[in-house]
Amino acid sequence: MFWQKHLKYIKTEMIAHNVSLKSFNTFGIDVNASSYFNVTSTETLKLVLKEHKEQPLFFLGGGSNMLLTKDIKALVLHLNLKGIDILEETEDTVTVKAMAGENWHDFVIWCLNKNFGGIENLSLIPGNTGTAPIQNIGAYGVELKDVFVSCETINIKDQTTRVFDKTECKFDYRESIFKQQLKGQYIITSVNLKLTKSNHKLHLDYGAIKQELEKCNIKEPTIQDISNAVIAIRQNKLPDPKEIGNSGSFFKNPIISVDQFKDLRQNFPEIPSYKISEKEVKVPAGWLIEKAGFKGKRFGDYGVHNKQALVLVNYGNAKGEDIYQLALLIKKTIKRLFNIEIETEVNII
Ligand code: EPU
Repeated sequence: MFWQKHLKYIKTEMIAHNVSLKSFNTFGIDVNASSYFNVTSTETLKLVLKEHKEQPLFFLGGGSNMLLTKDIKALVLHLNLKGIDILEETEDTVTVKAMAGENWHDFVIWCLNKNFGGIENLSLIPGNTGTAPIQNIGAYGVELKDVFVSCETINIKDQTTRVFDKTECKFDYRESIFKQQLKGQYIITSVNLKLTKSNHKLHLDYGAIKQELEKCNIKEPTIQDISNAVIAIRQNKLPDPKEIGNSGSFFKNPIISVDQFKDLRQNFPEIPSYKISEKEVKVPAGWLIEKAGFKGKRFGDYGVHNKQALVLVNYGNAKGEDIYQLALLIKKTIKRLFNIEIETEVNII
């Protein structure tokens, strides 16, 4: 907003009090924030950080990767920085800058409309562009790190600006430095990605994509076709947060040793797996949870999705605490049945 760009100080009336966060988290959990401020420029963000140093702060992006289990007794800063720019272009590639508050899927569509390739497999992932690097979002054989160049951040303590390049972000499976060593220290304000304008590198190896394209009789897919296929697969398996509250995959897929995997296969010969290295194997948590009998289980207003057991859902007015208790029960059961520790992917607050 224009006026926010020219602020010299934050007026008290700009901060709202006792605000419900139900519509700001994709799980649709109804908790209150003691105070709330909608941030629409980096200048305002720096200002509010400086002026409210002494107060507990809580940063909210797209609200797509969190389970709120209690009221937030803090000043919630809702990061809604907007804008997409082309920074650099050659004949074959383009570097695009997206502000943190851009909705991720809208940004993917913006790129597809310009025929910019690289993130089509990441279509329909909920959340904002600025939170995508924190957990290195990934789907259907592509991760954000594959196209990532850098991100601009603000240091929460002293409000200085710092750019992190790809190496500095220390990306890994659903991991980055922002979830580890630097957790809670920086706010990502924008992200730069390098995309292709021609000779797009297509990622079709993920089984379901090929099947989906075959179903539509597409032999030479474009990036738009791939996006459409991913959207179709996701819509078929994953609940739309606008209809049923959820946060996508609730757990990470656990990585276990090849030895442990061999033992498990004795009892469960059909167990799926992805090779990580000579020593390690990734096992789909969704399969473990289904095998443990939780798929489609409903307890009042919450439960486990009936098409993808990795997704916990809120059918209406579930409490975050109830969903958390269900997650703990699932975790305990998986440990007991398979001797595997599964970790949550979603942040429990
Ligand atoms: N499976 C089951 N039962 C289930 C769910 C899965 O048996 O209820 C089996 C499937 O049959 C398949 C395997 O588990 O053999 C893998 O399932 P799927 O292809 O659905 O992928 P996933 O490993 O469950 C991951 C990501 C998703 C991403 C998909 C597609 C994680 C934690 N999740 O799920 O990401 O969309 O791959 O690439 O890595 C998200 O992070 O929110 C998310 C949805």
